[in-house]
Amino acid sequence: MLPCQRALFDMPRDVCFLNAASWSPLPRAVQEAGRGAVARKGQPWMLPADFATAQHERARKAAAALIGADPGDVALIPSVGYGVSTAGKVLPIERGSRVIVLENDHTSPVLEWVGRAETGGFTIETVRQPTDGDWTSAVLEAIGRRDAAPLALASISSVHWSDGGALDVARIGATLKHQGAAFLIDATHDVGVRRIDVKALDPDFLIFPTYKWVLGPYGRAFMYVAKRRQAGTPLEQTAAARKAVSAEDTVYFRDLAYREDARRYDMGERDHFISMEMAAIGMEMMAGWGNEAIVERLSMLTGKLAEGLGNLDIRLPETKLRAPHILSLGFPKGMPEDLPKRLAAENVHAAPRLGRLRISPHVYNDEEDIERFVDVFRKVAG
Ligand SMILES: Cc1ncc(COP(=O)(O)O)c(C=O)c1O
Repeated sequence: MLPCQRALFDMPRDVCFLNAASWSPLPRAVQEAGRGAVARKGQPWMLPADFATAQHERARKAAAALIGADPGDVALIPSVGYGVSTAGKVLPIERGSRVIVLENDHTSPVLEWVGRAETGGFTIETVRQPTDGDWTSAVLEAIGRRDAAPLALASISSVHWSDGGALDVARIGATLKHQGAAFLIDATHDVGVRRIDVKALDPDFLIFPTYKWVLGPYGRAFMYVAKRRQAGTPLEQTAAARKAVSAEDTVYFRDLAYREDARRYDMGERDHFISMEMAAIGMEMMAGWGNEAIVERLSMLTGKLAEGLGNLDIRLPETKLRAPHILSLGFPKGMPEDLPKRLAAENVHAAPRLGRLRISPHVYNDEEDIERFVDVFRKVAG
């Protein structure tokens, strides 16, 4: 099992931060890289000509490595929503068809399709949150409905952000493929932790940001695009997306054809090398530890939490149905008022999410944090 990595973070012992699913702290090395990169921008004449290219290719490679992709199948984007809007522009959704989303999934994988449904003449089918917590079965049932319109797409998170439910994307993907439907995965709460292999999974799009589980900055996200979706028109029009548009050439618009790979979907200003380098370092650290070792550590921590909270008046999801790194507590009588605030007053940090308390440890947490959480929770929750 991966040992605790707290020493690599700027995290005082008396802070009990169990909220990586909202935003993780930056490792010291990532902060250092950010400071160094700001200084570089202070003296741009010192930068070699190929500096920016080296930076974004390093980040692309690090992102690709986390999901088993070829770097050429990964686009540099600023947010998950940007990636989903790109998919909205690229993916044809037939009139009269339906698109599956999850109830209360994050806005990013949902609202692009909601916004397009009326003019596009398709419907949105929302898979209701299952009372038994089994999202996979609920999605498979929706996919298999015989009385429904033909299925064009499932645009869903692989781990639900609010209840921590983990979806079996391999099974869902295989069933979608059987029906000829496309698959967009918002893997925000998955990449870096659970193992993802896009070559085996073969989704149309898989998107994740860096500011939560992969220990990076805001404003950096990555989108895997299957080869069959690499011939679309990008969301914005940039020189880098074209085969030959260069300010240093004597002819500016020399060749306007789009590049042949996912780089055509790269965002404008991808040369933002300050956050790009920070993102690369966070992702490289995650890859260095490896999925198995991380999952082992985080499931040990959420398991101990569940054990410690076991005989209180709360609802815990079944272990096999939740992500190994997230424990969302339900409250049969409603969450006690101000619970997150009262926890925070004791320097214990977890997030209120749609009536649940979402607890999300990362590699810097240890057993002492878990014991502390349980003690403080018992005290302040009454
Ligand atoms: C499931 C999920 N998707 C996406 C995001 C972030 O989306 P965006 O990068 O579009 O702001 C979040 C943030 O909480 C999330 O929980």
